[in-house]
Amino acid sequence: AFAQEKITAIKAGKLFDSEKGTFLNNQVILIKDNLISEVGSNVKIPANAEVIDLSTKTVLPGLIDCHTHITGQPENYMEDLFRKSPVDVAITAHIYAKRTLEAGFTTCRDVGASEYIDVALRNAINAGKVPGPRLYVAGFFIGATGSHGDLTGFSPNVHFQQGSGVADGVDGVRKMVRTNVKYGVDLIKFGATAGVLSEEESVGAPQYSQEEMNAIVAEAHLWGKKVAAHAHGTEGIIMAVKAGVSSIEHGSFVNEEGIRLMKEKGTYLVADIYNDDFILSEYSKMGVPQKIIEKEKLVGRLQRENFQKAVKAGVKVAYGTDSGVYPHGDNAKQFFYMVKFGLTPIQAIQAATINAADLIGIKDKAGSISTGKWADIVAVDGDPQQDITLIEKKMVFVMKDGKVYKNQ
Ligand code: ARG
Repeated sequence: AFAQEKITAIKAGKLFDSEKGTFLNNQVILIKDNLISEVGSNVKIPANAEVIDLSTKTVLPGLIDCHTHITGQPENYMEDLFRKSPVDVAITAHIYAKRTLEAGFTTCRDVGASEYIDVALRNAINAGKVPGPRLYVAGFFIGATGSHGDLTGFSPNVHFQQGSGVADGVDGVRKMVRTNVKYGVDLIKFGATAGVLSEEESVGAPQYSQEEMNAIVAEAHLWGKKVAAHAHGTEGIIMAVKAGVSSIEHGSFVNEEGIRLMKEKGTYLVADIYNDDFILSEYSKMGVPQKIIEKEKLVGRLQRENFQKAVKAGVKVAYGTDSGVYPHGDNAKQFFYMVKFGLTPIQAIQAATINAADLIGIKDKAGSISTGKWADIVAVDGDPQQDITLIEKKMVFVMKDGKVYKNQ
């Protein structure tokens, strides 16, 4: 005999319609196995359904973080860089995946990990072996010699012994894209400009030529992969947008021209505007060099102000936090800053649902609570429209793919 399909009914006191940007009262969501089969106020609950009562809660589509490094998080600068093997990292990665899921993030992009640990984690999660968000992963961060993606600032005797995403020249970067694709990535991430948490001098200087950026994007598109560009600097942002990336990560020093181009090309901004708090309060204690702290001081405040300018101008925004820079599970702390710097609570939740699903390319399956989509559903105690921080403090229910991972 065939196994009977599992039917679940969720009674939602308030339900966020992320496509329309409104809250609906007293809705019923019917779930058959892992998919949403019906949503509305007049849905009849079948007698054999398991009923989940969230009639005093606010129900949202599962949240999506488009910028995570879910495989690890910082403990100590030198230890993390030089005393942890990829195996050490791999063995604890599942802990962070579970924490992220329990915080309400049912889907994440992982935008850079060593040794394809992210690919292995994604596969283990998809196979149901470990709990975690549905992952879309980038494998090795592709970066030039001496860039944010290289090991810089140490003796020439210190270099990557195993694989890395360091690649130079048009042929070199094309080969690195192919290598990442060969080992199973879902998207390509590369460093268009310098960064903060690495020891090269600049924060924002371009680190690839226009030709190299164009080649990365063209090659990725041949293989059907979208491209995310790490880009803090003004010029590098413009170059990456011109090359055709789907998202600018960080976007710290974006200027008017960058904003105009992003609007014109529909490029998403994924700005990690929470983690400055964590870096400035904790990183010195972890032995992070003062040089890096100084770079953070250049970036943090300006990034938030420029985020606000981009939002005002109408650039598309998707939620992304750079988790792994700060502890996993705190992903929702960024909502507060996104609202403080220009989004309405509704727009901020849209950034983490429908917009994020659009950026990843899974809008037909995720990002809203609608018929035919994956049953990725979370609930908050209270009204996040009144107080957006309830999402970080009162995440009481998490369902992913029709399975409940947290209930109170
Ligand atoms: N991974 C990023 C970098 O090292 C983190 C930047 C964090 N700071 C910030 N204000 N967003 O460049």
